[in-house]
Amino acid sequence: MSAQRTATTPGNDVVALLIRQHQLIRELCDEVAAAPPAGRHEPFQRLLRLMAVHEAVEEEIVHPYVRRRIAGAAAVVKDRLEEERDAKEILVRLDSMGTDAAEFMPHFEQFRATVIAHAQSEESSEFAELREQARPSLRRAMAAAAKVATALAPTHPHPGVESASKNILVGTPLAMIDRARDLIREAVPPRAASVLNGAGQKATTDESAANKQVIRRLSEAFNRADEIAMRDLLAAGFVAHGMPPGVPGDADGWVRLARQVKAGLPDQVTTIDDMLAEGDRVAMRFTGRGTHTGELFGVQPSNRTVSVTALEIYRLSGGKVAEYWTQMDLSELLGPPGPGS
Ligand SMILES: [Fe+2]
Ligand SMILES: [Fe+2]
Repeated sequence: MSAQRTATTPGNDVVALLIRQHQLIRELCDEVAAAPPAGRHEPFQRLLRLMAVHEAVEEEIVHPYVRRRIAGAAAVVKDRLEEERDAKEILVRLDSMGTDAAEFMPHFEQFRATVIAHAQSEESSEFAELREQARPSLRRAMAAAAKVATALAPTHPHPGVESASKNILVGTPLAMIDRARDLIREAVPPRAASVLNGAGQKATTDESAANKQVIRRLSEAFNRADEIAMRDLLAAGFVAHGMPPGVPGDADGWVRLARQVKAGLPDQVTTIDDMLAEGDRVAMRFTGRGTHTGELFGVQPSNRTVSVTALEIYRLSGGKVAEYWTQMDLSELLGPPGPGS
């Protein structure tokens, strides 16, 4: 085993690159924690960008490979995804409260502890598997794709680079992750992409992978309530089945639903728990979690963190979504409210 290993560096090995990023994340956490309230914003923005890129690399490259190619690893990936979801939730809250808020530091310390524990788990589970199982050439291809996005996350302040990267990786933490993910998808070499998507059934895999990507993009656009991006991915005559009462089953209804969810659960973070594709269909199971601070589906805000889960099937035609079926579980949202009601 060790005979197969060549010297690994962040430049030629995705695992070395991710471990180096873990170290940089810890250092940036220290920098934010040591800064006075008025000086936290700048290092926190660098940390946000690095986290966005790092999580996007793991979501697009590491998790799919480990889940598909390593026997028995699906449960490990699921645990890591749940930790990442928790970290993202705290990050979204930190970003919206602002670095000079009185409650920033307690939340930040919680974030730091979560992220450090998560990084240790990754290094001892997923990364160790990846290093053992994936060929050096594949790990090099993964590192090349990861570096495209990593270039957008300078960890030290350099005025020139800073302003260039700010134009590309901006907005909320989730928008930054979306952007970094898009860049990585475009940068993964075709051979590495076919391995990540499951080699051996190339024609089917290509169509399925493309369809899944459309659904991921639609889901991300939905989460941002980005009307232009959503309409771009919905086919003319799009039909939605199973929409909540009062929401039309067409593209206008879809956009309205996204806006309602955004208004009701503004900090919602969505995790895709499963995604399967065959022919022109994609099936997805997801969990959305957020703080219920606005009216949603006629339910008054409870300020509780609630989860909404759903099983969905999409039919694609010509690279767009033509039809959609959903079964949503809104019981936590609609369920017994707090004391007194
Ligand atoms: Fe991670
Ligand atoms: Fe990580």
